[in-house]
Amino acid sequence: MSRRTLHILYPRDQIADRVRSLAERISEDYKGRVPILVAVLKGAVVFLADLMRQLTIPVQLDFVRLASYGDAMESKGVISITKDLEMPVQGRDLLVVEDIVDSGRTLKFLLEDLQRRGARSVRCCVLLDKRHRREVQIAVDYVGFVMEEGFVVGYGLDWSEDFRHLPDIFIVQVAEGASASRGG
Ligand code: IMP
Ligand code: MG
Repeated sequence: MSRRTLHILYPRDQIADRVRSLAERISEDYKGRVPILVAVLKGAVVFLADLMRQLTIPVQLDFVRLASYGDAMESKGVISITKDLEMPVQGRDLLVVEDIVDSGRTLKFLLEDLQRRGARSVRCCVLLDKRHRREVQIAVDYVGFVMEEGFVVGYGLDWSEDFRHLPDIFIVQVAEGASASRGG
């Protein structure tokens, strides 16, 4: 196992404040509608659970899981749906809830796929935006934090399936030559 040290980046109180204000904006924007929250497994589950309980509008919920193939820490474009939605989305308002947007490839793939299914609207809400890493152009409608360099874990986010349970978000520092799996 590689040597890994964690350094706190976003403490739980700061996350809770941001989630609350995102939920306020979403509740305002979707007033009078019942959107389907489309949560991306697995990384978004903690964010989703906090976000949906702060909403003041009714919502429905469904899940997708995506796999991307490529390097351990970078997606290289080949993305597939390994667990699809179970609800019909024709004519519905969809709000994708995702943990991180990095290159943007995963989210772009999903948003375009959902649009092709005849949804009335498709927007996305992302906890962390690694904006400077973007390789494809996408519009992110709701952003928790714009972050700089680094790989983060905790609050649902993993490093090779570890650390998802941590209530705060941490930057991982690793010794040279270490590897990680992604896609969660
Ligand atoms: P993208 O397709 O390059 O935008 O990659 C987005 C996906 O990569 C996210 O859904 C995460 O699962 C994963 N990912 C990217 N950066 C991190 C990170 O710092 N920690 C944990 N997962 C990450
Ligand atoms: Mg993910």
